[in-house]
Amino acid sequence: MFMERKQKELQKMERVQAIYRHPYFQKCLEKNRKAEETRIFCKHHLEHFLDVARLAYIFSMERGYPIQKEEIYAAGLLHDIGKWQQYSDGTPHEKASADIGEKILRETGFEEAERRRILTAILSHRKNRMESDTAESMAGKQLAEVLYDADKLSRACYLCPAEGECNWSEEKKNLNIIW
Ligand SMILES: [Fe+2]
Ligand SMILES: [Fe+2]
Repeated sequence: MFMERKQKELQKMERVQAIYRHPYFQKCLEKNRKAEETRIFCKHHLEHFLDVARLAYIFSMERGYPIQKEEIYAAGLLHDIGKWQQYSDGTPHEKASADIGEKILRETGFEEAERRRILTAILSHRKNRMESDTAESMAGKQLAEVLYDADKLSRACYLCPAEGECNWSEEKKNLNIIW
């Protein structure tokens, strides 16, 4: 039963595996790792991407949003994939991540409407919810909303040795286990 459930779920996530295995995704992951080798604050690695994807999926279920699981995971995996570019040439990383993400999404079988929703969510993941309302459809707004919330709530500030030096406000820091 367990194996059947696992196999069935895997079939719904094939394009997400394709993102993870995409050579450009792997290359950017490595560039993020190198760029943040000595960073003491939050990093932008695969663990963060998965924390965000899983939390966004939890929010989507808690709020009863009918968002496709693959879209949520695609947005989670790609939302900070261009962080290295911000360090190297100053391009805001939501823009860099959307550009990289567009190429990867095209090559992993995401259709135009799906790409549009995912890229809008990535582009608005640093702005507040009002601005993410630029998404054209309800599904796009909901995806942007859960991605934004998951990104901010995914950081375990209560565990972080650099918490005292971090510029997040006390209100924004996650000092309790809620999700
Ligand atoms: Fe980000
Ligand atoms: Fe993030």
